[in-house]
Amino acid sequence: MSMTQQAPPAEAVEEQLGKIVTELGAALGVLLTSLGTRSGLWSALAGAGPLTTAEVAARVTVEPSLVREWLRAQAAGGYLAYDPATGTFTLPDAVAAAICHGPGGALVDAAATMLSSMGEGFAAFSEAFSAGQGFGWHQRTAAHWHGTDAFTRVALPAELIEAAIAEMPGLAAVLAADGSVADVGCGYGTPTMAIAGLFPAARVLGIDYHDASIAHSRAEAARRDVGNVRFEVAAASGLPGHGYDLITFFDSLHDMGDPLGALTRARQALGPAGAVLLVEPLGADDVEGNLNPAGRMFYAVSTLACTPNAVSQKTATSSEPLGLAGQQRLRALAAEAGYSHVRRLEVPAPMNLVLELRS
Ligand SMILES: C[S@@+](CC[C@H](N)C(=O)[O-])C[C@H]1O[C@@H](n2cnc3c(N)ncnc32)[C@H](O)[C@@H]1O
Repeated sequence: MSMTQQAPPAEAVEEQLGKIVTELGAALGVLLTSLGTRSGLWSALAGAGPLTTAEVAARVTVEPSLVREWLRAQAAGGYLAYDPATGTFTLPDAVAAAICHGPGGALVDAAATMLSSMGEGFAAFSEAFSAGQGFGWHQRTAAHWHGTDAFTRVALPAELIEAAIAEMPGLAAVLAADGSVADVGCGYGTPTMAIAGLFPAARVLGIDYHDASIAHSRAEAARRDVGNVRFEVAAASGLPGHGYDLITFFDSLHDMGDPLGALTRARQALGPAGAVLLVEPLGADDVEGNLNPAGRMFYAVSTLACTPNAVSQKTATSSEPLGLAGQQRLRALAAEAGYSHVRRLEVPAPMNLVLELRS
């Protein structure tokens, strides 16, 4: 601190230290909430009214003193109401609706799986981060890929994909007859297999640069006996084939080292009436529009998981990694890649921007 600078007021520093404590509690809260889902603690509390620790413990197989600490932690986190007069804990209906009956519990559980991988690989990741390097999808542990897929299952269900395709003029009829689809950056192939299931006459290809994800997708397709899908190891820039009726990117474009190259290759591989379905996280157009809890989460995932993969693929000639891009940036990138029509599809996707691209 220079001689002319004044030390910040002690209370302001104190406030920041308090914020760090809040942050630690929130970060650990992800694991606690996931534990509640996995062990049945949330279900034990849902709709049960006020319960003592012993009453909750009688409903689960968790050791009673761990039940006690978990209940107290969730009460401190604001998820449970605590009545000191009776020593009981109540799960409010709204919390039960979000965690037990809504998508909240599954999303937090998927995040916990991803966090466990981030924690395990944090030494290697932080070294790469500090040394100006990226960190590829293939450098993660399997929990990262499992967790991503678990997240996708909640955020991009088959109904959402079906609704998006229904919004794209003429496409559903083509796919129902005998269309062809490529899903780029397919990961574990959950959306890919959803499309194959929705359109059994269509031929569906999923590609991903990551061989372990492709091996997993192939095994899952065989297990589920999905006959009209195949999976290949390939980077977006090398998408095989041409004449596709539909090319999809489900939360994958921002993971790529050359997003412009990926969209350009997709345009070249489309048939004359073909279209791209581009699904990206729901970012605002300007930074200030993302300075809120959702933007904070998206920027954090972008910094810790997505952009490191993009950076690991960057070459001297590739375009800039996208990061959390808003609609304007995506539209500009699509125009640069040669698409003349870009339309936002009005589908119920609370966490995503869903765009149709045509050239
Ligand atoms: C966030 S995951 C999404 C996976 C899948 N689409 C889903 O919705 O579950 C991003 C995927 O993009 C893949 N990916 C990253 N860069 C790629 C590239 N250049 N070419 C093909 N796939 C890529 C990663 O391996 C990862 O599977």
